[in-house]
Amino acid sequence: MIKVAPSLLAADFCNMEKGVRKMEEAGADYLHCDVMDGVFVPNYSFGFQMIEGLKKITDIPLDVHLMITQPERYIERFAQAGSDIITVHAEATKHLQRVLKQIEQCGRKPAVVLNPATPLDMIQYVLDDVDMVLLMSVNPGYGGQGFIPVVLQKVRDLKAMIDAHGKEIDIEIDGGVNFENAPKLIEAGANVLVAGSSVFNDPDPALAVKRLRESK
Ligand code: DX5
Ligand code: ZN
Repeated sequence: MIKVAPSLLAADFCNMEKGVRKMEEAGADYLHCDVMDGVFVPNYSFGFQMIEGLKKITDIPLDVHLMITQPERYIERFAQAGSDIITVHAEATKHLQRVLKQIEQCGRKPAVVLNPATPLDMIQYVLDDVDMVLLMSVNPGYGGQGFIPVVLQKVRDLKAMIDAHGKEIDIEIDGGVNFENAPKLIEAGANVLVAGSSVFNDPDPALAVKRLRESK
C-alpha cells in the first residue's frame, strides 16, 4: 500500500487548521511536519508547539521530519508533543544509533533520513533500529524545488539493501514529488510519498492524493 504524506510546509501558516482539514478531506495518510532550525538548513519553520497544536486537532499520524542539528537534544520534547514518527538526519548527529534508540524508548517510530549526496553506507548498520528510511530528493530547506533525478537509482539501491537485510522497512521520498516521477519512485521501491506543492497547490487536493497513491 502506498501512503501519501502531504507536507504542511506548503500550507498557509496563518490558517494551519484549514490546511489540516483540507488534508483530512483529501484522505492523507500522514501529515508531514518539517521542522527547521536555521542551522542544519538555511530556513526556519516551526517547532514542538506546532506539533502539540496539530495533535490536538487531528487524528492523522504526524510524520515529523527534523532538519535540526543534534536532534538528540529535543527527541523527548517532540515525542511528548505528539509526533508519531520521528525522522532524524544521519548528517545531523554523531551518534545516530543512540538517537534512534532514544526515539524508540520514547514510544515513537524511529526513522532516518539522508540528504541527496549522502551515501547509503551511512545507514547500513542502523537498519535494525528504524521503521522507515527517508531519502531526500531535494536539498532540504524549502518546498517547491525540483526533483534530483539520480535519487531514483538511490531508491533502487536502498530497496535492494533493505530486501537483503530482510526486515520490513518503509521507504519514504521527500522533495519535488509529482505525478510524473511518482510512478517511477513506486516502481523503484518507495512506498511513502511526501508531497508539498503537488498536493497543496492542486485545485483538487483529494484527487491529487488519490492520483499519487494510485500512480502507475
Ligand atoms: C524540504 C522539505 C519537504 C518539502 C517538500 O526541506 O523536507 O518536506 O516540504 O515540498 P515539495 O513537495 O514542494 O518539494
Ligand atoms: Zn520533509
